[in-house]
Amino acid sequence: MHHVLNRALLAGALALAAGTATAADKIKVGFMLPYSGTYAALGAAIENGFKLYVAEQGGKLGGRELEYFKVDDESNPAKASENANRLIKRDQVDVLVGTVHSGVAMALAKAAKGSDTTLFVTNAGADAITGPMCGTGIFRTSFSNWQPGYAMGPVAAAKGHKTAVTITWKYAAGEEQMKGFHEGFEKAGGKIVKDLTLPFPNVEFQSLLTEIASLKPDMVFAFFAGGGAVKFVQDYHASGLGKTIPLYGTGFLTDGTLKAQGDAAQGLLTTLHYADGLGTPRDQAFRAAYSKAYDNMQPDVYAVQGYDAAQLMQAGLQAVQGNIDDKAKFRAAMRGATIDSPRGKFTLSAAGNPVQDIYLRQVAGLENKMIEVAVPKLADPARGCKL
Ligand code: BEZ
Repeated sequence: MHHVLNRALLAGALALAAGTATAADKIKVGFMLPYSGTYAALGAAIENGFKLYVAEQGGKLGGRELEYFKVDDESNPAKASENANRLIKRDQVDVLVGTVHSGVAMALAKAAKGSDTTLFVTNAGADAITGPMCGTGIFRTSFSNWQPGYAMGPVAAAKGHKTAVTITWKYAAGEEQMKGFHEGFEKAGGKIVKDLTLPFPNVEFQSLLTEIASLKPDMVFAFFAGGGAVKFVQDYHASGLGKTIPLYGTGFLTDGTLKAQGDAAQGLLTTLHYADGLGTPRDQAFRAAYSKAYDNMQPDVYAVQGYDAAQLMQAGLQAVQGNIDDKAKFRAAMRGATIDSPRGKFTLSAAGNPVQDIYLRQVAGLENKMIEVAVPKLADPARGCKL
């Protein structure tokens, strides 16, 4: 008995001295997410989703317990490198999970690549992350900005809209989602008459709404999310513009926001890689488990993306029996995995971005109801990725 215990102690001490992990050590997971500001609710949902999947596996992934480290990135790109390095250098995390804001995520991806730390991007759509910045250790369980923007193009054109004005925050997410919409809409014969922007995270929309009224497009296409999306949808409704110029957007405009938006959001059409009322057993089980774990809260797209990051990590850890230091095998297993997501099954492109159905959804009550698959199995073009 004594003997066995001593041997175990000795093995642990040797591993420590050599700086290598043993199966008894916890895997260090670094959450870099917004816990304050306009995207705070999105960060919380991602963490909830991730932890729900881990709890469903009995608190372990690949047979190993997890230890969490957290940084509030405040959706502030100016602080992003420093925040990423806190997790990488100070806390010495094994993997990074984050973040929401595209500008912050690009700095995070750069720091992850520089230190060869595996990164799970759980929201930020910055096209570059699975484009020019792609890498074997970079995985995204969310979307590229191009994907949901592009998907609305053919949908809007099919509704007979010929002209559109776009409106968004002036940073990568907004600009790239609008660019995706340009591509899809113009290919289908539509014309964008003006792209309107304001700085992130401003919510003074009034002068821009006045400009829309004078431009009189057939439709408006918007990206806002979190607190900003609540305010924009309310302001658009209050302006009365919606009666003559219908508002469309990527699904972030109405995801996780419907309680706060109330009547103002009713009937809005958006495109996204998740929807309410998918009706699959997988999604129903996820939704029931989420609301049970989190005080009757309903999951949203952000919760799904966090949940799927943990699922993807589990696929990798199972392939290496928990030995996360076998980076090449861990990563190769994840790159080849099929994830049984609440959104529907998806695989990763060579660049590490989900190849996934994009749904057309319509707000009804407190739900973004699935109407149809707008574009099936949409793969980001991964422009500039050399892998
Ligand atoms: C982004 O910055 O990439 C982003 C933020 C919120 C929702 C969707 C995308």
